[in-house]
Amino acid sequence: MLLVIVSLLIINVFISRLILNIYVEQRKSNVLIRANIVANETKNYLTTNAMSNINSIAEEYSKEISGRIIVVDRTGVVRGDSNKEYLGSTFRHTEIQYALKGQTSANIYNFKDYGHVLYVSVPAIFHNRIVGAILISVSINDIYREVSHINQNLYLISAVSIVLIAFISFIFLDFTFRPLESFTKAIDGMTKGDFKQKVEINTNDEFKNMADAFNAMIMKLDQVDKQRNDFVANVSHELRTPISSIKLLSDSLLHQNEDNISIYREFMEDISAEADRLNNIIYELLALVDLDKEKLHINYKTTYMNFLLEKIVNRMRPLAEKKNIKLTLEQDERIQIKVDSEKIQQAIINIIDNAIKYTSEYGKVQVKLYSQSKWCVIEVKDNGIGIPENRLSQIFDRFYRVDKARSRKTGGTGLGLSISQQIVSLHQGIIEVESVVDKGSIFYIKIPNDINL
Ligand SMILES: Nc1ncnc2c1ncn2[C@@H]1O[C@H](COP(=O)(O)OP(=O)(O)OP(=O)(O)O)[C@@H](O)[C@H]1O
Ligand SMILES: [Mg+2]
Repeated sequence: MLLVIVSLLIINVFISRLILNIYVEQRKSNVLIRANIVANETKNYLTTNAMSNINSIAEEYSKEISGRIIVVDRTGVVRGDSNKEYLGSTFRHTEIQYALKGQTSANIYNFKDYGHVLYVSVPAIFHNRIVGAILISVSINDIYREVSHINQNLYLISAVSIVLIAFISFIFLDFTFRPLESFTKAIDGMTKGDFKQKVEINTNDEFKNMADAFNAMIMKLDQVDKQRNDFVANVSHELRTPISSIKLLSDSLLHQNEDNISIYREFMEDISAEADRLNNIIYELLALVDLDKEKLHINYKTTYMNFLLEKIVNRMRPLAEKKNIKLTLEQDERIQIKVDSEKIQQAIINIIDNAIKYTSEYGKVQVKLYSQSKWCVIEVKDNGIGIPENRLSQIFDRFYRVDKARSRKTGGTGLGLSISQQIVSLHQGIIEVESVVDKGSIFYIKIPNDINL
């Protein structure tokens, strides 16, 4: 608005100056023409003493231009005055001096009493000799009045335009920035913990893009919030189960009057197993939390995956043999990559552990190592119970178990795969699964050959 007002002011001043100039110049040339005519008509008489002729010419033209005309001779003596005031006296006006030297001049004076007056003077030349001078003074107050009138109109138009522009701008700005209101509302809602908000914008501009991004962010936050709640609920649940078992077992021991030490032993073994389970859950939880924050403390070392896998498979073999499962390792090439071998080992163990756990007795678990374009692939294939297709996306979630009843029997917490995935993604890798229920599953751990450190 300020910019508009200043520009309008400048334009107004410029225009009124221009108009004034045009009017004044027009008047000047008009008066100059008259002055020259008077000079032409009086030059003959100026060489003689025919004063009355000169005066009547001055009077005649002064009526025409409604100004005063003074005619002086070569010596500056007034020979004609339309007001008859200075006749016979010597006139030393600046303009007259100039004219007697042969120059034409036109100046504007601003008198207190008369206002703006234009003085124009020309020499009267007869046979190439300066014989006198003509001075015409005309009031040009009418021009100033006219210009000031135009000025008033200009300012009026400007004021109306400013009001109009202000009005339109307000409407326009209000319209343009109204979408921000819905952002503010959504943010307020979120501050109060409501992540179900949505910013609705129907325009097709930057605000729309921003709203889309914003809504995606709210959705993500909502998910994170839900995950966090689920996580806390799950953790509490998982921790409570072993604790209530321990409580139950120890209470029943307390209320028993048995002397039979073997009963005590049996109960104590159960209590110990539950304590182990508790310990295990807490250990895995801590591992997850560590992985969350330890992003920067990965200890990369160039490692032969062949040796690492041999070590792991040998370690897992007793577990497989307990269920008479045939655990094999197949590796045709030597693969050396940069990994944090401790962490990667944990990730692979979790997956082989699952393969053994979810495969029935006399089954098969095959581990393979090979490279595939930019990946080093560790494939773990079993012929176990498989995973329903609609559950595949969830098995990497914390505490998620496909068959809770069965998993309880096998003693899982549902954290293994999320730990593995966390570790593999820290190595910029991915885990993929293919599975058919009752046929078996294949897990692919893919780690980039040349990791970006
Ligand atoms: N090879 C597999 N065959 C069939 N189901 C599997 C296999 N691997 C994982 N699953 C399913 O995915 C779920 C999640 O696996 P995850 O390793 O995260 O947890 P868990 O094995 O139950 O517990 P733990 O934390 O002790 O590993 C399992 O409960 C199981 O239902
Ligand atoms: Mg597991």
